[in-house]
Amino acid sequence: MRVFKAAILAGALAAMAAGSAFAEEVKIGFIVKQPEEPWFQDEWKFADQAGKEKGFTVVKIGAEDGEKVQSAIDNLGAQGVQGFIVCTPDVKLGPGIVAKAAANQLKLMTVDDRLVGADGKPLEDVPHMGISATKIGETVGQAIADEIKKRGWDMKNVGAIRVSYDQLPTAVDRVDGAIAALTAAGFPAANIYDAPQAKTDTEAALNAATTVLNKHSDVKYWVAFGLNDEAALGAVRASESVGIPADNVIAIGIGGAESAINEFKKPSATGFFGSVIISPKRHGYETALNMYDWIANDKAPEKLILTSGSLALRGDYEKVRKDLGIQ
Ligand code: GLA
Repeated sequence: MRVFKAAILAGALAAMAAGSAFAEEVKIGFIVKQPEEPWFQDEWKFADQAGKEKGFTVVKIGAEDGEKVQSAIDNLGAQGVQGFIVCTPDVKLGPGIVAKAAANQLKLMTVDDRLVGADGKPLEDVPHMGISATKIGETVGQAIADEIKKRGWDMKNVGAIRVSYDQLPTAVDRVDGAIAALTAAGFPAANIYDAPQAKTDTEAALNAATTVLNKHSDVKYWVAFGLNDEAALGAVRASESVGIPADNVIAIGIGGAESAINEFKKPSATGFFGSVIISPKRHGYETALNMYDWIANDKAPEKLILTSGSLALRGDYEKVRKDLGIQ
């Protein structure tokens, strides 16, 4: 009888141990620098979708500065999260974020903006998913050049607003790509004016672009580009506020999320001519899934994943979205 009882007890303990290991809930964190931006809302939405499908929880936190990132990571640690994905407000926070993650025993992956070390070089050990920034920038520049030619403008008389955010490497790569394609098409480099924005949102881009437009009020035709749709939209809003007709402006953004679509839906065309659609599903769903696999199955993500983009214009964005599988 005693042997029998002991066997039952051992069996029950084994079942409990197996059960608890099996049922240990996977929780991942998803920190973004600009939670109000549609791109990041979409990333969160798709991360949640992955969580629902695979049965893990996504803890979403917005962190607009370094201090908030640090406390967000501690907060995740305290909540029993096992790993997190972050789009940092400042890539130079790299070593601090790595240290904080380690102190909280959290796995770490980055999205969109890649962390850099004290030497300014990317932290290559931290798995990262970003966009193919140079190539996407070239697509922007080429599309602007094509449209300038189509409209029959003389490039000598066209000004270009480079809405810039040079502390972010992916932003530099994007605008450099655009400039490379524009100048290769014959655009005079001397007509490209820098408009440094203080933040990566529309308002900051509007302020930066307004300064350029006021300084060069003799220029009739304008083109504009920057790191995202908000940058291009800010330049368009600036052109409107100083009274430049929409037909005299060609701005192309990067993103293709709600900010761009709302603009395309306006009854008459604005200077916002197009957007290179990138994939928030890959950046949200796939990174969340990668993190889940790392935690649950000990399968570490690839160190660097670069995603592509597709140009969409006001006239064809619905078709491009459909072809990409976005409804
Ligand atoms: C950066 C930008 C975002 C978005 C992502 C895409 O984080 O600030 O607007 O373009 O890159 O990777």
